[in-house]
Amino acid sequence: MNSALGPRKLNLGCGFDIRPGYLNVDLHEWHKPDLVADITRLDMLPSGGFDEVVAQDVLEHLERHKVQGALDEWVRLLCEDGVIHIRAPKP
Ligand SMILES: C[S@@+](CC[C@H](N)C(=O)[O-])C[C@H]1O[C@@H](n2cnc3c(N)ncnc32)[C@H](O)[C@@H]1O
Repeated sequence: MNSALGPRKLNLGCGFDIRPGYLNVDLHEWHKPDLVADITRLDMLPSGGFDEVVAQDVLEHLERHKVQGALDEWVRLLCEDGVIHIRAPKP
């Protein structure tokens, strides 16, 4: 995916934090994301297609056994030198 085809920034588990310029992704249609999908498996998105991945207050909502796979998936989506921002509460 390049900038001519769509955003190069991902907002995973966006909830109601819909960000302009991002591909906003959530499991639930009611948040009105750009893409309804399970963020632990994003086969429809291209490897290396994104400069930035944001996952804010979402990691802690994933089942524990899916966390490593999800992190691997998010890294797969990043281009070289891409940046990932993860925010999660202190345990
Ligand atoms: C606490 S909210 C955070 C929303 C937003 N990122 C923010 O910072 O305001 C967690 C969000 O993650 C979404 N979510 C949880 N598990 C998900 C999954 N497996 N795939 C996609 N979205 C998921 C929920 O639907 C919810 O919108």
